[in-house]
Amino acid sequence: MPAQHEPIPRLPVFGWQALRGPAQAEVPCMLSLPGLHYSTSGRASILLALEALGVGPGDQVLLPTYHCPTMVAPASLLKAVPVFYPIDGKGNPDLDWLDRQDLGRARVLLAAHYFGIPKPMAALRAWCTARGIALVEDCAHALFGRSGDRPIGTWGDIAIGSLTKFLPVPEGGCLVVNSAAAVPALRPPSATTNLKSFVDILEVGASQHQLAGLNGLISGALAGLRQLRSAPASQPEAAEAAMAAGADISALGGDFTVDSALAHRGLAEPCRWVARSLPRERIVQRRRHHFERLLAALAGRQGVRPLVAQLPRDCAPYVFPLWVDNPDPGYAELRRLGMPVFRWDRLWPGVPALPDDHGVPWSHHVLQLACHQDLSDDQLDRFTAEILRLYTRR
Ligand SMILES: Cc1ncc(COP(=O)(O)O)c(C=O)c1O
Repeated sequence: MPAQHEPIPRLPVFGWQALRGPAQAEVPCMLSLPGLHYSTSGRASILLALEALGVGPGDQVLLPTYHCPTMVAPASLLKAVPVFYPIDGKGNPDLDWLDRQDLGRARVLLAAHYFGIPKPMAALRAWCTARGIALVEDCAHALFGRSGDRPIGTWGDIAIGSLTKFLPVPEGGCLVVNSAAAVPALRPPSATTNLKSFVDILEVGASQHQLAGLNGLISGALAGLRQLRSAPASQPEAAEAAMAAGADISALGGDFTVDSALAHRGLAEPCRWVARSLPRERIVQRRRHHFERLLAALAGRQGVRPLVAQLPRDCAPYVFPLWVDNPDPGYAELRRLGMPVFRWDRLWPGVPALPDDHGVPWSHHVLQLACHQDLSDDQLDRFTAEILRLYTRR
């Protein structure tokens, strides 16, 4: 059965709406912290963080069993040894398990604020300090928020972020350095890179009809240009096409790797402008609004369970995590229909089965439902209706 609608965008889209609202959010934003550096992606930021912390061949890097492979690839590139630790039912590292391991060569522990829900950090911070292990606070899902009495991004020796998950940019990451570590110098982006990212931002906006008055003009001009040069589709278009065709994310070759050259170049200027200038309060409020709507629609149903029963006050969620008792074949159907859903079902080879670990079951059962600021209420309703249809029993 063909999809009857255009795919719903999985990530934010640039448009006039993105320029509305107060410049600053009430919730702290990583991008306002001292010690901020921009990079080309979250994975580039992890690589730069590991380099800054002196990780080299044979060093152990402690990583959660629940992960996107892009969180592991940087350690692998540096020939470090990933040691996968179990997580509890709230996504916190199992420190008792870690204490029973031989961590003689452990240099870094990476912990993520999964889904944009701030994780308590005090005990983990103290654990790392006591053992001389550097903490990389992975805020790829949490550009905004407060954990305990501190802004997100201030607990780690280095914190990392991923801009594409929160802002309408084709590339982008950041690091916040809270220690003496020095981030390697980055090569400036070329004029072509800057131009291409500018075009990409507008192209995605126009293709999603978010630039009223300019949509036709931009789409037409870019289509003409492409025909003239018979250039291949841009990455966002290729990704959308693959998604519409029902491809799994792993089919988008190279998606999980980290490119060292790309990681050592600076962020394209148009993306930097978006990161600095886009009004932030709307991003937080719209994401919270969508999350609350999903919670109202999906709580208390049989067959599914929201992993977060209540949205904490000081945060902007990245996605809505939903435990599904029998996720297949519904997941493939959701993807085929162009629904904005992810699942971390590609684990790094060699992830062990550990007692009481929630990470491996999550990678199969937890669907990450997009709740970004540029979804319309109609799109969210359509998405919710499909989830209810596929997964819940009356
Ligand atoms: C928790 C986490 N950390 C890091 C990354 C890497 O971010 P990026 O895709 O910007 O390279 C991701 C990507 O999905 C992620 O989910």
